[in-house]
Amino acid sequence: MRHPLIIGNWKLHGNKHMVSNFITALRNELSSVIGCDVAIAPPMIYLDRAKYHLTGSSIALCAQNVDTHVSGAFTGEISANMLKDIGAKYIIIGHFERRSYHKESNEYIAEKFAIIKNEGLIPVLCIGESKAENEAYQTEAVCASQLDVVLNRMGAKAFENAIIAYEPLWAISTGKSANPFQAQRVHKFIRDYLVLHDDAVAEQVIIQYGGSVNAGNAAELFTQPDIDGALVGGASLKADVFAAIVKAAAQAKKPDASS
Ligand code: PGA
Repeated sequence: MRHPLIIGNWKLHGNKHMVSNFITALRNELSSVIGCDVAIAPPMIYLDRAKYHLTGSSIALCAQNVDTHVSGAFTGEISANMLKDIGAKYIIIGHFERRSYHKESNEYIAEKFAIIKNEGLIPVLCIGESKAENEAYQTEAVCASQLDVVLNRMGAKAFENAIIAYEPLWAISTGKSANPFQAQRVHKFIRDYLVLHDDAVAEQVIIQYGGSVNAGNAAELFTQPDIDGALVGGASLKADVFAAIVKAAAQAKKPDASS
């Protein structure tokens, strides 16, 4: 039985006051919520401060990026063991904004995946198709190729204790979420694709949906059998809105058969 996971990706937003105010408010909002794992991903510079304010809470810490090296002459970079040192649990990789603005390739993302696993942390691997690929019926082929680089390098067992976030590019920051049935179809494809390699791994892997998730559309997305929570951008910046999404995941009723 998979637990949903909601991660709030703050991207390039926030300041030190927001970190403390947000976490205090979120802890209050979620004090009696069970059945859903939660993490927040503030900008790197605030991770340590966030960790301090999360002390004693089950809300986990997530980083938005990592380098492929453990240490050395790599100015400006942050390594997986440093993130582990300050208490991060999850690390987002393969996000469309990094693939696009920083030209990160599938192979480079697979290297990040490997280094994160080596440190015993949990990669959140973002995959998803562009609008043009979607319209050309390439969604499944694109998702498969983004999974293949990890599968070919590390095998299916690498997805044990790893997260996949399906984020159609056309839904990110556009206010236009995929409809729940559309998203479920792709999530099922992703899970079935992993079944071809290892059915036990496929059954346990968390597959989040990402792309314009908000308090209004979350509940319906989470009733889908293969949607195990969400990677939330814009709607993760206000504690009450983010908490409403977490509560929707905690309360979601799944159809019996598939999960
Ligand atoms: P959004 O971002 O919720 O603002 O669309 C999601 C993401 O980029 O992970």
